[in-house]
Amino acid sequence: MKITFANPTLPETGVVVVGVLDGCKLTDSAKALDKKMGGGLVRAIKASRFKGAKDSSLALFAPAGTGLDRILIVGMGKPKSIDDKEMQNLGGDIYAALSTKGHAAAQVIIDAVDKCALRPDQIAAELALGARLRSYRFDKYRTKEKAEDKPSLKALKIFCAGAARARSAFAPKDMVAQGVFMTRDLVSEPANILYPETLAKHAQSLSKLGVKVEVLGEAQMRKLGMGALLGVGQGSVRESKMVVMHWNGAKGKTKSDAPIAFVGKGVTFDTGGISIKPSAGMEDMKWDMGGSGVVIGLMKALAGRKANVNVVGVVGLVENMPSGSAQRPGDIVTSMSGQTIEVLNTDAEGRLVLADALWYTKERFKPKFMIDLATLTGAIIICLGNEKAGLFSNDDKLSAQLSEAGEAVGESVWRMPMGDNYDKKINSDAADMKNISDGRGAGSITAAQFLKRFVDKTPWAHLDIAGVTWSSKATSTAPKGGTAFGVRLLDRLVADHYEK
Ligand code: BES
Ligand code: MN
Ligand code: ZN
Repeated sequence: MKITFANPTLPETGVVVVGVLDGCKLTDSAKALDKKMGGGLVRAIKASRFKGAKDSSLALFAPAGTGLDRILIVGMGKPKSIDDKEMQNLGGDIYAALSTKGHAAAQVIIDAVDKCALRPDQIAAELALGARLRSYRFDKYRTKEKAEDKPSLKALKIFCAGAARARSAFAPKDMVAQGVFMTRDLVSEPANILYPETLAKHAQSLSKLGVKVEVLGEAQMRKLGMGALLGVGQGSVRESKMVVMHWNGAKGKTKSDAPIAFVGKGVTFDTGGISIKPSAGMEDMKWDMGGSGVVIGLMKALAGRKANVNVVGVVGLVENMPSGSAQRPGDIVTSMSGQTIEVLNTDAEGRLVLADALWYTKERFKPKFMIDLATLTGAIIICLGNEKAGLFSNDDKLSAQLSEAGEAVGESVWRMPMGDNYDKKINSDAADMKNISDGRGAGSITAAQFLKRFVDKTPWAHLDIAGVTWSSKATSTAPKGGTAFGVRLLDRLVADHYEK
């Protein structure tokens, strides 16, 4: 969809979207339209239950006195509650309301709103972002879908004072949306198409944007001693990979400046291995590479908007399969850190992959901090449902920054406790640790304790995104399916605290 901005005019033809504030308070453009219609817009509002509340709208067709095909009146709520997130949601809702109605184009008019913190050009840019995010669709394998069932909306024109400012504010946001789309594409691809080697190829495509990409194969990882990661992949015919991405965008800083680091779990399919999962719902495990998808999409977003920061992204890519060469429950592997791990359940594989990815990242880059993302535990869905990601950290400042960035973009995280008593539960009689804990409780926390043994003193945070990576229902800014939860959150964290 093409999104453009123009200075205010009242369109004479086509589809127009205008806002009405809470309590049926008309914006200036709504008033102008009402006048053209001889009071018809106000009469239509009175004849319905529409009050201008947020999340409400009213459609008028071929209104008399105008040459328009459709007017969509949207509720903007109270001026004081208008903020970035609300306007993104409104943009997404407008897209959803119009995209399948047969119109190729729509025009949105943004007026100045009294007692509102945002200027019209700011509202316009946020609205555009919301519409863009909602317009995502993964339909490449739907070869029989009829044209009339596909979205018709191809152009969105937003009229506002300060159109040039809106345009330049939207440009970097649109780059972040492209990162989000890449992540959604990657988590949506099935595992016969997307496996470690092909996922690594997608990461390599970022070199077009100036990202330096290295791919390690099994031989190199074996030399580095990554026995934990390699053990998970050894049952698969697909070769395990590790991808290291560098974005060196910091201006005026020396090369030796420590980067910040993001690490992702990339299990391209998780059958559970020999500790095999039940078949019902196993197809969901195609998105068990969600953490790596976020790291790759984030690198795309940061490079796309030329972020003023040095970042490394590291993803551990494996397929967890049962086979004659698969790792067995009870196997003991030696991680790159030298610590040995008794693998009591081959389905607790994500932590094994991250153990080596985190250690490698810490040793090689000595980063300012490391944040890992992983669809790590079903238990986090029991804790937090599909609303928030679990946050685990050894650093209060980093945690606070993450929580704040999450609220700002609508990707909410909730900090979970950690501590020695949880850590003890993964001590093993046979090795330095085991990959599952004693007893059934606190499964997400003991998983985080396991990771913590591979980060040393590095400031670190772990986001368990198992509950938020895939959504069975649409939200204002995302259709159902892959959410890319984490891309906007981490882009915001970087923008707010680690640039300039
Ligand atoms: N990939 C799963 C976690 C998961 C579950 C992600 C549901 C998304 C939705 C992970 O590898 C796993 O299997 N975890 C086990 C750990 C257990 C064996 C200690 C789990 O959560 O059951
Ligand atoms: Mn598993
Ligand atoms: Zn998994």
